[in-house]
Order: sequence, then structure tokens, then C-alpha cells
Amino acid sequence: MFQAAAKTLSVASTTRGILSCIRHFCKKIPTKLRVSEAVSGAGLGEEIKVQGWIRSSRPQKTNLFLHVNDGSCLQSLQIVASSELNNPLLTFGAAVEVTGILKKSPHHRQPVELKANQIRIVGECNSVDFPFKVKERHNFEYLRQFPHLRCRTTNFSSLLRIRSEATAAIHSYFKEKGFVQIHTPVITSNDCEGAGELFQVEPSGPGFEGDENFFSVPAFLTVSGQLHLEVISGAFSKVYSFGPTFRAENSQSRRHLAEFYMVEAEVAFTQSLEDLTKVMEDMFRSATEHVLAHCAVDVDSFHKHVTPGHRDIVNAMLMKKFPVITYSEAIDILNRSSEKFSFPTDWGCDLQTEHEKYLVKHCGNIPVFVTDYPYYLKPFYARDNQDHPEHTAAAVDLLVPGVGELCGGSLREERLDLLRARLEKVGLEETYSWYLDLRRFGSVPHGGFGLGFERYLQCILGVENIKDAIPFPRFSHSCLL
Ligand code: 4AD
Repeated sequence: MFQAAAKTLSVASTTRGILSCIRHFCKKIPTKLRVSEAVSGAGLGEEIKVQGWIRSSRPQKTNLFLHVNDGSCLQSLQIVASSELNNPLLTFGAAVEVTGILKKSPHHRQPVELKANQIRIVGECNSVDFPFKVKERHNFEYLRQFPHLRCRTTNFSSLLRIRSEATAAIHSYFKEKGFVQIHTPVITSNDCEGAGELFQVEPSGPGFEGDENFFSVPAFLTVSGQLHLEVISGAFSKVYSFGPTFRAENSQSRRHLAEFYMVEAEVAFTQSLEDLTKVMEDMFRSATEHVLAHCAVDVDSFHKHVTPGHRDIVNAMLMKKFPVITYSEAIDILNRSSEKFSFPTDWGCDLQTEHEKYLVKHCGNIPVFVTDYPYYLKPFYARDNQDHPEHTAAAVDLLVPGVGELCGGSLREERLDLLRARLEKVGLEETYSWYLDLRRFGSVPHGGFGLGFERYLQCILGVENIKDAIPFPRFSHSCLL
């Protein structure tokens, strides 16, 4: 009998356990939303949970107002809580998790607000030591001192979202046009540009002391993926890459980095430079229009608060077809101008930033293509125009307002004899025997270009210093973090 009673009791307690479990799971768990979803009204009337960092905290007599941002969009979500939920640790910069009902806001400044029933402090922030001040828009030069924290600020977080959207836009452009993306190597044994601005890669650490030949040949961080793209374009026709590129340039300029992102395209079966300028112009327009449309709130805020007046410049850039001038015409324009340049403007001299900026202004402050540079100014791969007496190469740069050179490209020398002769002249025919092979086995006219992605962002946003167009800038004498 005892046994039967014990069995009944145990069945009853199991049933109670199951019921309590069901009750527990039937209680609606608040939906976790990103701030971008909440401010656009997703989950209106429901209990939701958001997580983020306090952008402002305003305790009042009966209510506490917080603004919480999680980086998903420019806007912060207004949190309204009874002052009983106030806590001295709810300061600017603190990380919080807020649960409550998402309601229509009675104020027109924001469409919705979160009526909080629970605020959990996830990470405190000592606002006395925190380098940013509430509601202050610090300038980019100040922010640069805090590469580990500047993503928490309004303007820099806008820039990072725009950067992400522009990256997606560029990938979409190439996908739509039938290009295949190629991951070109970061470590390489060639110096594509031949300018000697290489970072050498050597092992370090136990077991490798003094071993400078891990790869058996000198190896470097890539200065350009072009030669590898050329290899693949010889089988895929239209290819592109978008990745980090490295140059040991001892420059503190506002447009040079030691590590930058380059978009490179290579097209086989080209007829002329026009095939390339068309891709460059199309890609520039398509990416810019996409960013202006899909990142409008961030771009508008950036243009308003960081670079007032820049939107008009961007609009003007998109209105007209980009003009094309030859290098010789550019030299004529510079020599006819009354401007005093610091660098010479004789035929044969490389164009300097001051010249590029002047040419852009001269053409109406819109992007301009300069073609057909002196043959010996360009690397060994540039196609010889075989013109006399000037002797130029089929190379093209795209110059843009505020920046100067944004893209550099050329038709490649596809003729075996001419390429071999040029490589022999500089003693590189053995090093590049594989490159000559490409001309031996099914060579076709081809060409391509590279676009500096940070310079592109500088151009469309009006960012003065390239160090503010990349999350973690690397340049000579600086490698923070
Ligand atoms: O003109 P560049 O040197 O061209 C090449 O490397 C070609 N191999 C590309 C190709 O044809 N596939 O570099 C291309 C672009 C420049 O126009 C400039 O925008 C950017 O890369 N760039 C830099 N950006 C930031 N910091 C630097 N140090 C840069 N050097 C070049």
C-alpha cells in the first residue's frame, strides 16, 4: 500500500513539474531587437529587449530618460522609465540591457519609445575618465587619439556604416556585371608596381631566429593584386578583388596609408582604354548612388555635421559624364595656368597632388580621366602606345575633387616581344618568366585598374584625412592597437 501511495505522489509531482514548465515557457519571452528595428517600429506594442550603450541619460523627478545606441543605425532608442529604476551607474557610455513595451512616442522627435520595466547594467562606464563628453561632437583629429573607442561616437560610427554599405555596393556592382571575385594573395614574391615600397615578411619567434627564408625566396605584403588578377583574367575574362594592400611609403600625407583597401578589376579582350574608363565611371556612379540611397540618414548627418557643403560637390560629380584628357593636354593646361606650382610641369614629369587638384578644378570640380602617360613613368606591364615622338603608355588615372588620384589603371602589354624587351632592360625577365608565359599561351588584349577605397570614401564624404576613413589606420611611425 505504501508503495502504491508513493507511486501516486510521484506521478502527481511529475505532472505539477510539467505544468509549471509549460506555464514557464508559455510566458512570452521578450523579443530581442536591434535598435534599428525598434526605431522603425518593429515590435510596436510588444515586450522587447534591446542591448546597447547609453548615449545620454536624463533623470527627472518622476521619469528617467535614456538614449541607447547599438551601432545598428544613427538613431538611438529613447527609453522612458520610472525614476525608481534610476541608478547612478546609468551614465553616458555604460552598456545596458533594457526590457519593456515598445510604444508610440507622444513627442514628434522620435516615432517610438521603450517604456522600460527592467534596466540591467551590463558594463559600467566611468564618465569622468571616458574621453568623450555627452552630446558633444568631437572633431576627427581628437578622436584619432582613441582608435579603440572612437567607434562609439556618432560621426565615426556613421562613417563605418557607410564604409560597410559602400563595400557591399561595390561587390553588387561587380556581381551584376558578371565579374568573378578572386582572393589574391596577401603574401607575394613580386613587386607589381616596381617602386620598391615593400614590407618584407619574415617569421619571428622560437625556432625561426635568423631564418629569413621561410618561403625560400624573399616574400612581401602585396602592393597590388594586379598580376594575380591578370593570371585569372586569362581564363575568366572579367575578375576583381577587394582586399588589403600594403605600401612602405614614408609619408604622413592626408591621402597615404601603409595599409589600405584596394578594389582591382581586370578585363580580358579589351579594345581600348575606353573599356576601362567605362567600368571605373560606372562603378563609381553605381556605388555612390547606392550609398546615397541606402545610407541616407548617415550620409546626410555626416555631410551636415562634419563636411558642410560637400553634398553639393557629390551631386555635381554625378550630374555630368567624366571628361577625358590626355597627359599632354594636362601638361598644357598646367603650363598655361597662372598658378605657382611647387613641382615642375614639364612633359615627362609625374603629376603631383597639387597638379591633380588643379586639373580637377579646371574641369569643373568633377572627376576627370587623364590618359596616355609618358611610357617610362609607368610600370613594366603598361602597354606601349608606340607613338612618336612622345612615346606614351596606354595608362589612365581617375582624378577626383579634394583627393586627386583615385584610380590608376592601364592596358597591359600583351605582346610577348615588347614585354620581354622591357623586362630584359630592367633585368627582370627571369623573375617574370611566368608572366611572359601568359603572353605565350593564349595572350589577349587586356587591362585593368585599382581604386583606393579609403580615397573613395574621402571623395564622397569630404573626409580631409585618410586616417579617418579606415577603422584602424596604419602609417609610418604609427601602428596603434
Ligand atoms: O595607382 P596604383 O599604384 O595602381 C596599382 O597598384 C595598379 N597595380 C592597380 C591595377 O591596375 N590593378 O594604386 C591604385 C590606387 C591609387 O589610385 C590610389 O587611390 C590607391 O590605390 N593608393 C593608395 N591609397 C592609400 N594609401 C596609399 N599609400 C596608396 N597608394 C595607392
